[in-house]
Amino acid sequence: MIVSGSASQTLAAALAAELEEPLAPVEYDRFPDGELLAAVPGVAADRAIVVASTVSSDAHVELLQLQDAVREAGVDEVITVIPYMGYARQDEAFDPGHPVSARAVARAISTGTDRVLTVTPHERAVCEFFEPTATAVDAAGRLAEPLPADLTEPVFLSPDAGAIDLAQTVRDAYGRGETDYFEKVRHSGSEVEITPSDVTVAGRDVVVTDDIIATGSTMSQSIDVLDEGVGRIFVTCVHPLLANNAVTKLSRAGVEAIYGTDTIERGSSVVSVAPAIAAEL
Ligand code: R5P
Repeated sequence: MIVSGSASQTLAAALAAELEEPLAPVEYDRFPDGELLAAVPGVAADRAIVVASTVSSDAHVELLQLQDAVREAGVDEVITVIPYMGYARQDEAFDPGHPVSARAVARAISTGTDRVLTVTPHERAVCEFFEPTATAVDAAGRLAEPLPADLTEPVFLSPDAGAIDLAQTVRDAYGRGETDYFEKVRHSGSEVEITPSDVTVAGRDVVVTDDIIATGSTMSQSIDVLDEGVGRIFVTCVHPLLANNAVTKLSRAGVEAIYGTDTIERGSSVVSVAPAIAAEL
């Protein structure tokens, strides 16, 4: 039985279809004081697969409630699928006195489950914060699917050296093109400094690929330093968080289309990770 968090309903339904398992009835409620209540009335199954991206603190609490609710209903095995793991970028104590937030949330989630899967975590090492270690599902190859087939001498770029593997994966799946990366220095949550890549992009179509687009600063500033005369610009990412004015920023930067997966449900979530998760399960 597939149990959906409120922020992952489309992906949960796709996964249920992929696995040919029923989708549990789920109710999401909120008390007058703001506290949440996520419930699974009438659930009876041996195994429950809870699918919930922790896109907010509320989504995180909701996931803990759903894990607890299915156990309370008598389910023997609980598998937790976290398509997008929130707080994963806080994977170390960056200043004295800071928490390792990724570890804190992973510990809480681990207490209610027998197994955890998460899709393309920001750093694979966060999987080790779960007990037992979470499985990382890789879905980046499918990001090539929505790209137009007629890209002109495509260049696949990543905003920093750390994401070059993603750009290479998308290029390999697309079947042709060059890869390179920008140099990125992050000054704050919304301020990044980007310096250009070596490759010449004049007259060529560009695909910029990252794991997450959050505020869109990294992507829009990468695009701003591209050579004049660049062809069409596409951006792809696994997790289209697209917070605040990210879509406007990218549109103003000249992006023709934003393509992401359904780990986060947005207008750009055109690629489903359900087959990749089903294959791992
Ligand atoms: C950070 O290293 C990630 O890979 C992304 O580059 C980052 O999360 C994007 O954030 P934003 O869209 O806010 O620049």
